Amino acid sequence: MVVTATAPGRINLIGEHTDTTGGWCLPMAIDLATTVTGTVGGDRVVLRSDQEAAVADVPIAGVEPATVEPAWGRYVAGVVAAIQPAAGFTGTVTSPVPPGAGLSSSAALEVAVALALGFDGTPLELARACQRAEQVASGVPCGIMDQLASAAGVDGHALLIDTRSLDVTAVPLPEGIEVVAVHSGERRRLEDSAYGERHAALAAAEQVIGPLRDADVPALRGLADPEARRRARHVITENARVHAFVAALRSDDRRTLGDLLAEGHASLRHDLEVSTPALDALVQRLTATPGVLGARLTGAGFGGCAVALCEPGALAAGPGVWRLRAASGARRHPG
Ligand code: GLA
Repeated sequence: MVVTATAPGRINLIGEHTDTTGGWCLPMAIDLATTVTGTVGGDRVVLRSDQEAAVADVPIAGVEPATVEPAWGRYVAGVVAAIQPAAGFTGTVTSPVPPGAGLSSSAALEVAVALALGFDGTPLELARACQRAEQVASGVPCGIMDQLASAAGVDGHALLIDTRSLDVTAVPLPEGIEVVAVHSGERRRLEDSAYGERHAALAAAEQVIGPLRDADVPALRGLADPEARRRARHVITENARVHAFVAALRSDDRRTLGDLLAEGHASLRHDLEVSTPALDALVQRLTATPGVLGARLTGAGFGGCAVALCEPGALAAGPGVWRLRAASGARRHPG
């Protein structure tokens, strides 16, 4: 029997690098989705991708995911390790989600593969399994935002995620605001980035001043090292920005939405230091474009895309520019 599973990428509107410390984030699933189609059977997962030259071929009996070649097969092997399917699968992957752009192509792949392999559970269980898959495949200690956004997306809505309780609240996006992703031209690979180092710095700060999710700016006085203080300040102020952003969406306060995006970018640039000159220049250019409410880098940083909120048509779609709609989460169907 032929099975098809589809899983969207995501764009994060605000709440960056907060999900590894139980904080808040506001991604949305996007209308760029990865599709896995094929037949169940055998003892290997064999997938051909329209984005990759080499076939991924992974035994279901188990293999060390981080050692698999070609490298994209590591995500497939990560899913196999996380969900331990009873049978293999042979099929194809098609995806319009650009890799290395900060739009969660790997989460979309993991979630689509897990569903194609027969994963049966809630969207949260699916996201947790795929987060484990990502971690073992890449060695990056990522949070749950990307996989949960892909699994639990709601058409026309952003998702307010409490990464402590893992509650997800759908927040409607106002009419007449467009979400646009614009590529900086720099492809990023989180494996080589300082993502793990930032994560460790935040964990170290929490050892001193307690959970960042519950801390306020005055608590930063407890951190002696100025760099540690900046890293932690990003998370504390970013969590507050998520709530302010949700309030501004609900009241359609466009000026505040733009201001919060600018503040978020400045914090990622100066406090967490995950931006790049290309991203800074892009955000500056977008912010100066008529009809753009605001812009900031989206995803982990170190390259990839900026997200801009704008009046319809302010930014034309083209190579490296995607006008996005908030989409439903992943699904599996026969045929
Ligand atoms: C990557 C990780 C997420 C999150 C973002 C930064 O996308 O996979 O868990 O930490 O970076 O917000």
